Amino acid sequence: MAKVKQTAVVNSQEKLSEDVFSMWIHSPEIASQAHGGQFISIYPKDGARLLPRPISICEIDREHGDLRIVYRVAGAGTKEFSFYEKGDSITILGPLGNGFPQIPADRRVILIGGGIGIPPMLQAAKELSCEKTAVLGYRDQLFLEKEFAAYAKVYVAMEDGSAGTRGNVLDAVRDNGLFADVILACGPSLMLRAVKTYAMEHQIECYLSLEEKMACGVGTCLACVCQSKEIDSHSHVHNKRICKDGPVFRAEEVEL
Ligand code: FES
Repeated sequence: MAKVKQTAVVNSQEKLSEDVFSMWIHSPEIASQAHGGQFISIYPKDGARLLPRPISICEIDREHGDLRIVYRVAGAGTKEFSFYEKGDSITILGPLGNGFPQIPADRRVILIGGGIGIPPMLQAAKELSCEKTAVLGYRDQLFLEKEFAAYAKVYVAMEDGSAGTRGNVLDAVRDNGLFADVILACGPSLMLRAVKTYAMEHQIECYLSLEEKMACGVGTCLACVCQSKEIDSHSHVHNKRICKDGPVFRAEEVEL
């Protein structure tokens, strides 16, 4: 699969919550190759000052050649993206990373997303043909939860208790007595660490998408290195680059 750097066109931009935005981008070359759990890098217009920002793919519409990203405004780059409008040209690179694995149709899957780790779970949910449940964890504002309902049974955990289970995603799993053969998860590292421990305790096959620390997105800056159990065959150290070797890893492969 070849990654493509190209000028793409913004189809639409929508504000989903106070600081979370949804953007559809027309990019047939990338849409035709991408799958759930992969990401793209977007180049801010002020390339001299700002690095490209890696952002996970939330949805793929292969028929129309479109990609959707849902991102949080967290700095100058993402702030710039939030001002883009229909018809604007942007430079993007992708698809990047390995993405989620195929899961056999006879398995039960729980998709767990926390905060801005929720968007990539939507495309993952769309691609899975097995029985699936989505557990979505929010701090205080909901987004995308209604869209998951088309593909999975949805449970929400909210830190402030204003919707669903008061607490975190694992509180929602326990409160609702949810079971699975496989867990797919993306979210902050604290959440992923807890999900890994839970999966190991219950001997559940578990895949984690580690997207928190990426910068260049293409394997050169080393900002995304995480500790791995096995020694890397190339560098001979206990390290993996999240952007190049991941972002999705078997839970037991990585130290969190
Ligand atoms: Fe730069 Fe991974 S983000 S090497």
